[in-house]
Amino acid sequence: MKITYLIIGFAIIAITGCSSSRNTAVQKDQLGLIDKALSNAVSQYKILMTTVPEGRMPHSYQNNKIRAVRPTGWTAGFYPGTLLNLYKATGDKKLFEEALREIVVMDSVQFFTDHHDLGFMMYCSYGTLNSISPKEAYKKILVNSAESLIKRYSPVVKSIRSWGKIDDDNEFTVIVDNMMNLEMLMWASKATGNPKYRNIAVAHANTTLQNHFRADNSSYHVVAYNPKTGAVMQKRTAQGAQDESAWARGQAWGLYGFTMMYRETGDKRYFEQAKKIAAFILSHPNLPKDKIPYWDFNAPDIPNATRDASSGAKIASALLELSGFTNGSLSKQYYNEASEMLKSLASPHYTAAIGSNGGFILMHSVSNLRRGVEVDVPLTYADYYFIEALMRLKKKIRS
Ligand code: GLY
Repeated sequence: MKITYLIIGFAIIAITGCSSSRNTAVQKDQLGLIDKALSNAVSQYKILMTTVPEGRMPHSYQNNKIRAVRPTGWTAGFYPGTLLNLYKATGDKKLFEEALREIVVMDSVQFFTDHHDLGFMMYCSYGTLNSISPKEAYKKILVNSAESLIKRYSPVVKSIRSWGKIDDDNEFTVIVDNMMNLEMLMWASKATGNPKYRNIAVAHANTTLQNHFRADNSSYHVVAYNPKTGAVMQKRTAQGAQDESAWARGQAWGLYGFTMMYRETGDKRYFEQAKKIAAFILSHPNLPKDKIPYWDFNAPDIPNATRDASSGAKIASALLELSGFTNGSLSKQYYNEASEMLKSLASPHYTAAIGSNGGFILMHSVSNLRRGVEVDVPLTYADYYFIEALMRLKKKIRS
């Protein structure tokens, strides 16, 4: 019964949009429903926190067992990040205490240079903590993390190397996901007054803009460069269905990344690209009715292909931010589409019943279908962006 109300409530949000008369009883109901989704999430994370192995971070749940990663795994920062956001959203101190207890395992990662995911790992964790409770010690960890990340930058390629050894002479790989690591660099320049982090982030975004997108504004997953000349050697996929397909998570990272870079720089090219990616996603004939993408827009077995709730959550969160940068019908469209996505994610099709799903909030995400790894499972990053999107929606309704 409660779930039915939740669905109806989100549907009302989608139809009315944020510009309708404020402080009405309807809006109160809508806010109540978002709060209900957040409170479900808190209950789930209180279960999850009882199962976290020492020195590791939750990542997924399969065969009735938690899957946890070392702090150097790319997903390690999402669990503390979600705890902190849920604390921010609800004021429940138990979550803040758990985040403080767990986040210290991330400390060693500030000097990690083996891959590019420092932004995900450190900005979602320590960046969120520092935004709630700023401290010199957290700032230092974040600046060290930015310093480690830029060690992977090449002035020849004008990009940050995603995978492989820093000095690999054969191939310099950049994946579209890497756009997500730039927010920490933008923050680092503001925090230190040193423009070098920002300059690298901007150079990386420009190179991605130039080489990662196809004529239809979908993106390649991987672009391989010649490290000695910076020339593009190959465009391919690692996690998508085919080299030429549109891997859903990659499209989500691009949309989110270029929206964020527009927020941080005001560069209209990033804004235009974000809108083009949004148009690709929202007008795609393979976007299902409930707006939660298949794991790849060109998955061979559509309509039976597995959905990826994590992509839906990221796209919803990015669209809500993008709706704030646009006006009129476009702004309303982004807002409504994001609300529809959240309506689906908050339904029992995707949101787990309290006490199930190992304490994770969402079901039905895909990590790496190509390799048969974590298909149709809960994932911490689905939860992270779902909570962020709910908070963004709530803020918009209130503004
Ligand atoms: N590297 C982030 C992802 O697999 O989506």
